[in-house]
Amino acid sequence: MNTSVISVRGLRKHFPAPSGGVLPVLDDVTFDLYEGEVIALLGKSGSGKSTLLRHIAGLLAPSSGTVHYRGEPVTGPNPGTAMLFQSFALMPWLTVRQNVELGLQARGVTAAERRVRALRAIGMVGLDGFENAYPKELSGGMRQRAGFARALVVQPDVLLMDEPFSALDVLTAQALRNELLELLAHPDSPTRTALLVTHSIEEAVQLADRILVLDTDPGRVRAELRVALPRPRDRRDPGFEALVEDAYEALTGRRDTAAPGAAASGTAGPGASGPEAVVQDLLRAAGPLPDATVEALTGLLELLDTRGGSVEPAALADALSYAVDDLMPLVEAAQLLGYAKVAANRLHLTVTGRGFARADILPRKHLFAAAALANVPLIATIRTLLLASGSGRLREPYLIGRLRGHVPEHAARRQLATAVTWGRYAELYEYDADDRVLLLPAEQRPTHAAQKPGRARRRR
Ligand SMILES: Nc1ncnc2c1ncn2[C@@H]1O[C@H](COP(=O)(O)OP(=O)(O)O)[C@@H](O)[C@H]1O
Ligand SMILES: [Mg+2]
Repeated sequence: MNTSVISVRGLRKHFPAPSGGVLPVLDDVTFDLYEGEVIALLGKSGSGKSTLLRHIAGLLAPSSGTVHYRGEPVTGPNPGTAMLFQSFALMPWLTVRQNVELGLQARGVTAAERRVRALRAIGMVGLDGFENAYPKELSGGMRQRAGFARALVVQPDVLLMDEPFSALDVLTAQALRNELLELLAHPDSPTRTALLVTHSIEEAVQLADRILVLDTDPGRVRAELRVALPRPRDRRDPGFEALVEDAYEALTGRRDTAAPGAAASGTAGPGASGPEAVVQDLLRAAGPLPDATVEALTGLLELLDTRGGSVEPAALADALSYAVDDLMPLVEAAQLLGYAKVAANRLHLTVTGRGFARADILPRKHLFAAAALANVPLIATIRTLLLASGSGRLREPYLIGRLRGHVPEHAARRQLATAVTWGRYAELYEYDADDRVLLLPAEQRPTHAAQKPGRARRRR
């Protein structure tokens, strides 16, 4: 861990001030980022964190001082780095795969290789089934996974992250933080070194090997904290809490316990129930399908697991600064899938739920597929209809029509939207938003089925 990958020496940066003169933003910043290390750069808003990151990426030139990447001075875009932003910066008119390929295009990789590498990166972050989705079809957590894929696809030596979790709700952010650690720690990962900009103390303590606290006006390294806690880290561990306090003190100059900041999620209440025909029985058995994303659900189950597998929903909502109403669809989804049970006014993680919470990204999808088929009649019905159809395709308006016979149109749409997202995540089917069709994954599609000529090419 002692090869310096990024070396910053005496870095100063000032910008022209609007009123004339200069605005000093960074003042004499010096540090090294070592191979295999994750540094969190913690500082208040306006302390120059993004500015420092842009110097390391080679997008800004220092007023004085230097940045070196593996011994070479950085004088233009740094080829060893890739950047992950808070606002996932996905091009809305491009599919997930096309967005992920962007970074490779800029590096002159051939189209054929771009595709292979993009699909591999998409798989790595658990987005298979969404290759051809457009950003607007994705939840915030999924968009940020696409952001991960786009940053990781170039196999950067160093991953630079600018507040990558701050636009997400608490549970989603928590699930994605764990996934990020898993991705970086994976033995095959070419990317093991990272610099994370954050204003969240807990995030810094959870993810980093070392925390640099940046001063404001102008920014300079005010304190350095080593985080030697074993992983996975538990935020209720006394060592964790002590470090949070140290970092809080370094950041504010005061000794106090930091209030965990949190954002509310935007999930809505439960839908209604469903429908008829060959699949009549299945659809008749359909209960409400809660409006919950897989990311937030994962976050909830992981949290339950770290709390010993049982918690009061009200306390949970409190701890997360979620409104209880926002938490309800997640709790319902966890119950529906057999991952949790409510008893004696507590939410308990089931054995299956624990298995899911502790599984790696890929096995997790398979567990989810099994749970969804067994417990979500609408998903099982869609899968049955797809397998029974000669073409392996099913039009969305047809499904909505069937559902609408039994529930109001808006509920039908919402339930189908959830079923589409869950089923896609589980790789039970794919979805083409242009044509509004659900389809079996390519390798399961009947070979004799007529493909629409122009489409098959785009989807591969
Ligand atoms: N291109 C620029 N021109 C002038 N001022 C800038 C520029 N970029 C950043 N600043 C100023 O530098 C300071 C630090 O900004 P930034 O690095 O974005 O902080 P942080 O990411 O820590 O919130 C802010 O006062 C900001 O207004
Ligand atoms: Mg910033």
